[in-house]
Amino acid sequence: FKKQWFAEQLVRWYRANQRDLPWRRTKDPYHIWVSEIMLQQTRVDTVIPYYQRFLEKFPSIAALAEAPEAELLKAWEGLGYYSRVRNMQIAARTIQEAYGGKMPKTREEISKLRGIGPYTAGAILSIAFGLPEPAVDGNVLRVMSRFFLLYDDIAKASTRVKVEQMLYGIIPEDAAGEFNQGMMDLGATICTPRSPNCTACPIAGHCAANLAGAAEELPVKSKA
Ligand code: ADE
Repeated sequence: FKKQWFAEQLVRWYRANQRDLPWRRTKDPYHIWVSEIMLQQTRVDTVIPYYQRFLEKFPSIAALAEAPEAELLKAWEGLGYYSRVRNMQIAARTIQEAYGGKMPKTREEISKLRGIGPYTAGAILSIAFGLPEPAVDGNVLRVMSRFFLLYDDIAKASTRVKVEQMLYGIIPEDAAGEFNQGMMDLGATICTPRSPNCTACPIAGHCAANLAGAAEELPVKSKA
């Protein structure tokens, strides 16, 4: 069955080939949250030193909630998009007040926090808590569009929702964080927008786009 094969191959490949990144040595939901917010608009290599310094300065959700804004902005200098860190502080205060300082464990609750959208919610739930929740970003939309030969426009919110629904039937219960991070790594290193390296891909054997010679045509993305 194609979906189970997909998940097994991807997780096996991730375990053997994962990049050693500082936020992959922890399951602390606060640390995962910080890494995912930084990685939203900034490259991995740039994020690493910022991630480490930020957690030294603000080692807990409580510390983030109480930090003077000037200190926060200083720690963020060079990353840009300062609303990200302002939103994190607002969310940290909500977590302090509404959840006793602990990151909530449901998509519904996490998604209400300022600055946490569907992707970030899924990343935290799967990586920190091991819950089988999808984390759909551009990389995941590309991998899924190609593997299942989907011509849906990835610029539409309805396509993200459709892909999320498909993923609920694919993500392994016992390796959700590894599956989601495997998707991220596959999209970043092999299933790239141009010239995908299908000969090195662990799931090329059943990838519909690869078999149809259509990998580079997908995904479909409208401009407007
Ligand atoms: N980009 C977004 N999240 C990531 C993660 N957890 N690891 C590597 N790259 C990422």
